[in-house]
Amino acid sequence: MTDPVGEPIFELAGVRYVYNDRQVALDGIDLVVHPGEQVVLLGANGSGKSTLLKLLDGIIAPSSGRMRALGLEIASVVDGIGAFRFHRQVGLVFQDPDIQLFSATVLDDVAFGPLQLGLPAADVEARCDEALGMMEIRHLANRAPFELSGGEKKRAAIASVLSLRPDVILLDEPTAALDPRTKWVLVNLIRRLGEAGRTVITATHELDIVPVIADRVVVLGEDRRVHADGTPAAVLGNRDLLIAANLIHEHLHEHGGVRHSHPHATDESHDGLDGDDDGIPGITPDATAWTAGPPR
Ligand SMILES: Nc1ncnc2c1ncn2[C@@H]1O[C@H](COP(=O)(O)OP(=O)(O)O)[C@@H](O)[C@H]1O
Ligand SMILES: [Mg+2]
Repeated sequence: MTDPVGEPIFELAGVRYVYNDRQVALDGIDLVVHPGEQVVLLGANGSGKSTLLKLLDGIIAPSSGRMRALGLEIASVVDGIGAFRFHRQVGLVFQDPDIQLFSATVLDDVAFGPLQLGLPAADVEARCDEALGMMEIRHLANRAPFELSGGEKKRAAIASVLSLRPDVILLDEPTAALDPRTKWVLVNLIRRLGEAGRTVITATHELDIVPVIADRVVVLGEDRRVHADGTPAAVLGNRDLLIAANLIHEHLHEHGGVRHSHPHATDESHDGLDGDDDGIPGITPDATAWTAGPPR
C-alpha cells in the first residue's frame, strides 16, 4: 500500500446510499483514499461498486454519512459548488462505453472535454494526442465510435476522460465482456496510468486483474459494506473472505463416493473454465497462486 502522503482525496465515514428511499446500495462505508493509490473495489454484482464510483465522481451525494472529496463536501459538489474544478480532477469511465461516446468521431469525443474547458486549439490538440497516445489509439482518431470493437471503444472512452488530465481516474468494470487478449492489453494500459502517478480506482469482480492494477483492494460484500481493505496478496489469499463475498464459490463434487470441494470464480462453469469464453481456466484452488499475479 502506498504510504499516505498529503491530504486524502476521498474521505467517507458511515456513508449510506439508498435509491428511491428503499433500495440500499451502500450501507455504512468507511473509506479513505490518498493521492497516488491504486485501488480496486472488488465486489459481486449488486454489492454497490457502481454506486460508490458515482459518489466518488460527485454525481450523487450520500443519503447519510459524511463524505469529503478533494477537500470539498461532496454534497456541495453535487449542488455545483466547486464542481468545475472537481470534474477537471476526477473522471469516471462508465461500464458502458456507448454512454461516453456520442460524437461523430473518436477525436471529437476525446476533444469534447478540453473544448468545454475553453482551451486554445493547440492545447486541445495536444491533450487529444496525449490521451489517444496513452490508450494507443491514435490510428482510430477519425473512426466513428460505432465502427469500433468492444476493446477499442473502451480505450476511446478512457481517452475521452484522460483528455481532461484528471488526477483521479475511476473505472467501472473496464474489462467486462472483453476477450482475453483485449482484456490484458487494457489492463496493462490501466496499470500504466497508475505508474504515471494518477490515482486509479477500478471496480471489478475479476480477481485475475487485481494484482496487476492494484496496490490496495477494498472488498464490498453483498451486504453493501466493506469486508476487507488490504493488499492484493492478503485479500486474494483469503479464500473464506472471497467465498463470503461471492467472488469465488465452493463447488462440491462427488467422485466414486468421495466428496471434495474446491473454489471456483463465481462466473466459472463446472468444467473449470470461467465465464469469459476464453478457454482459459479461472481461479485455481491454490489461492496463493494469486499473490504472484498473472504475467506482466
Ligand atoms: N438506479 C437504481 N435504482 C434502484 N436501485 C438501484 C439502482 N442502481 C443500483 N441499484 C441497486 O443498488 C444496489 C447496488 O448496485 P450497484 O451499485 O449497481 O452494484 P454493482 O455495481 O456492484 O453491481 C443493487 O441492489 C442495485 O439493484
Ligand atoms: Mg456496477
